[in-house]
Formats: sequence, structure tokens, C-alpha cells
Amino acid sequence: MIIHVFNSQQELNQAGAGIITALIQTKPDAVLGLATGGTPVGIYEELVKNYNAARVSFRHAKSFNLDEYVGLPDGHSESYRTYMNHHLFDHVDIQMEETHVPNGNADDVDEECEEYDAMMADAGQVDLQILGIGHNGHIGFNEPGRELTAGTHRVELKAETREANARYFPSIDEVPTHAITMGIASIMKAKQIILIVRGADKAEIVERALFGPITTDCPASLLQAHPNLVVLLDNEAGSGLIEQ
Ligand code: GLP
Repeated sequence: MIIHVFNSQQELNQAGAGIITALIQTKPDAVLGLATGGTPVGIYEELVKNYNAARVSFRHAKSFNLDEYVGLPDGHSESYRTYMNHHLFDHVDIQMEETHVPNGNADDVDEECEEYDAMMADAGQVDLQILGIGHNGHIGFNEPGRELTAGTHRVELKAETREANARYFPSIDEVPTHAITMGIASIMKAKQIILIVRGADKAEIVERALFGPITTDCPASLLQAHPNLVVLLDNEAGSGLIEQ
């Protein structure tokens, strides 16, 4: 595991975008695993800048997103498909048909999950998986519990996850109760994982995830077992580690 702690959001964003840019420069047909939430927004902004400066082209790249809410209407402002289009896909030259986000409106969600895993298998190994982390240690929408699931699956969101995401919705009642998420095995199969965490409110979970016991009670703790994990933290998220 390699941990970088940054003094400014801009340095963190440039470092994150730099890793993705360097990968695509050396492997133009890279398979990217992408994340949503507040955390990666600045990294996508820097990637768009790199694209506009002709430092990178996504023309041959493919992407698979970690997760999507179940039941938000197509085009809903808070769907993760809308988020990805808005923050990245609409501004770069990636082929839209090579961008994949689980379909949270599928008639048969189980079938959708199987198809998503099959598409990922066809694409080959994910070269680089971007990850954020929830306050309870979730990655994607793999929530803490007695068991974790290997492949893409439907999940009921924990109350704390719905509360954390309520800031994006008019009221908590409008936050979906379920989501589709890549499973832990799908995530762990990536060749490289970049975990990005910002803010003092995540310092404790960062410490638990990276140095606590490996347990299903903290899904992110499984990342300790990944052979190529790079962690990008701002000063605040890394404050617990620096004090050690
Ligand atoms: C969300 C997403 C995760 C994300 C996490 C943290 O619910 N499903 O993929 O990493 O929670 O979100 P944020 O970056 O907004 O703190």
C-alpha cells in the first residue's frame, strides 16, 4: 500500500488525474473503474483539463462504474449515470457506448447484475479502479455486515448511507432505498486501486480501513489485501495516520 497525503485539494486532484492520464497514455484502451460521490469530482475536472490540453484521449478507453441507485427515473439529476455524463463523459472523447453504469431501472435487477458482470468479464481486467469510502467503511455500495457479496448485486442501503447522500436530494424520503453495486470481488480484481478520501469526518474510517482488522464490518478494510493499492488523502482525512 502506498499512501500520499496532500496539503491542498488541487494537489490531490492533479495527482489523481495524473495517475489516470499516465495509464491511458501508456495503455489507450485501458479499462477504468469509476466512482461517483463528492470525492472524485475534482479529479474528473482535472482529467477534463488534461483532455482539453491534448494530454490524454479516452477514445479507446472503456469504463465501468461501481454503482447506481435503483428506481430513479432516466435522466434524474442524482442518478450516477447523469453524474458521470455531467462530470466527465460529456466533456471528453470516450465513446458513450463504452461507458457502463448499472441500469437501476432494469425490469429484472438480478439479470442486470449478471449482465454487468458478464460485460466486465468480456472487457478484461479493470486496469484502474477509483474508489471513495463511506463513513461506515462502505466501498461502492457494499455496506458493512456479516457477509459481503462477490459480484454485482442489489443492495439495501443503510440508514446512515441514505442520510449521508440526502444532501443531494430535496428530502431524505427521496433518497432511494436500494442500489446496484459491483461486489467486493469485482473491485478487488482490478489491477490497481486508487482510494481517495477527503475531510476530517473521514479520518477515523481511513485509519480503521487501512490499519484496523480486515473485517466485513468495514468493507474497505479488505483493500489492505490488494497488491496494488494507492491511497490519496487530504491532510484532514490523513490526520489520524500522521499522529501515529
Ligand atoms: C456513496 C457512493 C460511494 C462513495 C461514497 C462516499 O454513497 N456509493 O461510491 O464513495 O458514498 O461518497 P462521497 O464521496 O460523496 O463522500
